[in-house]
Amino acid sequence: MSLSRPLRLGVNIDHVATIRNARGGEHPDPVRAAEIVAACGGDGITAHLREDRRHIRDDDLARIQAATDLPLNLEMAATEEMLAIALRHKPHAACIVPERREERTTEGGLDAAGQHNRLAPIVARLTDAGIRVSLFIAPEERQIEAALRLRAPVVELHTGEYAHASDEERATELRKLADMAALAAKNGIEPHAGHGLTYDNVQPVAAIPQVAELNIGHYLIGEAVFVGLEASVGRMRALMDAAR
Ligand code: PXP
Repeated sequence: MSLSRPLRLGVNIDHVATIRNARGGEHPDPVRAAEIVAACGGDGITAHLREDRRHIRDDDLARIQAATDLPLNLEMAATEEMLAIALRHKPHAACIVPERREERTTEGGLDAAGQHNRLAPIVARLTDAGIRVSLFIAPEERQIEAALRLRAPVVELHTGEYAHASDEERATELRKLADMAALAAKNGIEPHAGHGLTYDNVQPVAAIPQVAELNIGHYLIGEAVFVGLEASVGRMRALMDAAR
């Protein structure tokens, strides 16, 4: 039997809103997705309110919070606008991500090391409001050290390089994730991980004992088109549990 702590699954429901917004109406509603996730074994809801509102909209946040008791993890850029929204909604957690308008998705980690002065007041104000701050960073030692200096209680390790690595590079990328999860935990920071995770690549990451939470979105919503959200979340949950 595994001695490591259970691994939480945060389901990112952004792309339910992407499909809704393709037609500009109300269907499919990300709130319904959040309710299904709550009913079928998800541990949290993750949503990224982007500057251009291309998927989640402001009013979705309050509706998601009203509809489920699951903790909401708000992904946000480090801007005054997003800070004000986070302070208004008071999600359980806020994950600070880098954001560039032209990118298709969050392409790299946050440069916590290079942006200390910009991030410090935002981390402090979120923390003072009782919001658990997470920094979405590449699995690099200098970024963990920067997270420590910023007093962030959580880092989310960007698994994109691992997910997109060639067969030859994958073991190296996995080792970086495992080493940085261990370094974070040793320093009292809770490591999470996410980006680009699928049924096929989730288990080696889920097996890293210090990782406490995975945040998974695009693949789960894509699979849900074929099998339904309950089934896609259930299968991911089972794969994660089997890896622990
Ligand atoms: N975690 C963070 C911080 C992200 O920005 C994203 C993508 O929005 C995810 C997890 C989920 O990534 P994916 O949609 O590739 O599963």
